[in-house]
Amino acid sequence: MTVIITGGAGFIGCNFILEWVREIGEKIVNLDKLTYAGNPENLAGQDPDVYELIQGDIGDAELVKDLLNKHQPWAILNLAAESHVDRSIYSPADFMRTNVMGTFNLLEATRAYFGSLSGKGKEKFRFLHVSTDEVYGSLAPNDPPFTEETPYSPNSPYSASKAASDHLVRAYFKTYDLPVLTTNCSNNYGPRQFPEKLIPLMILNGASGAELPVYGDGLQARDWIFVMDHVRAIREVLFKGTPGETYNVGGHEERTNMEVVLAVCAILDELTPRLDGQSRTVQIKHVKDRPGHDRRYAIDDRKIQMSLGFSPQWSFTEGLKMTVDWYLSNTIWVEKVKSGAYRQWLDLHYGQKDK
Ligand code: NAD
Ligand code: DAU
Repeated sequence: MTVIITGGAGFIGCNFILEWVREIGEKIVNLDKLTYAGNPENLAGQDPDVYELIQGDIGDAELVKDLLNKHQPWAILNLAAESHVDRSIYSPADFMRTNVMGTFNLLEATRAYFGSLSGKGKEKFRFLHVSTDEVYGSLAPNDPPFTEETPYSPNSPYSASKAASDHLVRAYFKTYDLPVLTTNCSNNYGPRQFPEKLIPLMILNGASGAELPVYGDGLQARDWIFVMDHVRAIREVLFKGTPGETYNVGGHEERTNMEVVLAVCAILDELTPRLDGQSRTVQIKHVKDRPGHDRRYAIDDRKIQMSLGFSPQWSFTEGLKMTVDWYLSNTIWVEKVKSGAYRQWLDLHYGQKDK
C-alpha cells in the first residue's frame, strides 16, 4: 500500500504529505529533484517507515522505472513542475523539460508498470496529475468562470507547458487505457509557499519594510484557495474520481491583486505595526506589468461539488490570517529559504522592473 508523489518537497506537495501521513498513514515515497523550490526541511522528522524522499528527476527514465518496480505503488501523484509564471518568461526551457518531457517520461514508465499489473492491483491503480486553471487562459470581466469544457488557451510558457502535460495525460487514457485523473486548480496560498509568489512575497516584503511590487494596475483577478482545501480535493479525486475525468478546483474567493495586497497590509498593520505608525500600504509600488499577463481567472467547480461532494472550507479571510501568522512565526524557515538563489531572483526580476 504505497503511493508515489512527485514534487512533494514543494509547497502543495509538502502540505499534501504532512496531511497524508497524519490522516492516511500509508507509505508515501516522494520523488523530488529539489530545485530551488523544493525544501526537504518541510518534511523533516517524519517516520521513515511512512515517508521516504528520493532525490531525482521525473525525466530520469531508469530511476522512475526502478522506483515503480521497487515500490509497486497503487497510485502516482504528479505534482513535480516548474511552477512560477515569471520564471517561465525568463527561462522557458526548464518548463518544457520538466513539465512536458518529465510528465511524458513519467507516463511512459507508468504505462509499462501498469501493463505489468493484473487483477485487483490493476483495477485499483491511478495516475493523478495536478494541473492548473491557467491552461484555460484569461477571462473578460463578465465571462462565466472556467468549466471542465472550457477550451484550452494558455498564454505563458508555464501554462502552455502545463496544457501540453494535460493533453499527454488525456492521450494516455484514450490510447492506452491508463487510469488517469487530472485536477485543474486555482491560485493556492498558505504555509510553506516559496516567497516568489504574490502572497508570501507581500507578507515578507511588507513585514520587512520593503516595496510591495504590484504589476500594472493591480486589477487582475485570481480565485484564491487555501492550500489545505486543495490537498483535500486531490485526495477526494484520488479516492473517488472517475478515470479519464478532469476536475476543476477553486476557492470561491475571487479577488483583484490590489484587494489581496491591501488585505495583507491590513493584517500586518494589526499584528506587527510599523514603527512610524503608518500603514503598510505606503510600501505599495506599481511596477511594469507581466508580459502576456492573464487578466482574470475564475472557477466553476460544480462538477467536483456534485460528483465527489467536495467544496472548499476555508474562507480567504481566515486562510490569509493563518498564513500571515505562519510566516511571522516561522522566522527560521523564512531565513533559510531566503538563500543566495532567492536573492538572485529578486535582483534579476524586480531589479529590472524598476529600471
Ligand atoms: P512548487 O514550485 O512549490 O514545487 C515544485 C516541486 O517540484 C519542488 O519541490 C521541485 O523541487 C520539484 N521539481 C521541479 N522539477 C522537478 C523534476 N524535474 N523532477 C522532480 N521534481 C521536480 O510548486 P507548487 O506550487 O507546490 O505546485 C505543485 C503542482 O501544482 C505543480 O504541478 C503546479 O503546476 C500545480 N499547481 C499549483 C498551483 C499554485 O497556486 N501553486 C495551483 C494549481 C496547480
Ligand atoms: O492559477 C493557478 C496558478 O497560480 C498556478 O498554476 C501557478 O503555479 C501559481 O504560481 C499561480 O500563478 P499566478 O501567476 O497567478 O501567481 P503569482 O503568485 O505569481 O501571481 C498572482 C498575481 O499577482 C498575478 O496576477 C501576478 C501578480 N503579481 C505577482 C507577483 C509575484 C504582482 O502583482 N506582483 C508580484 O510581485
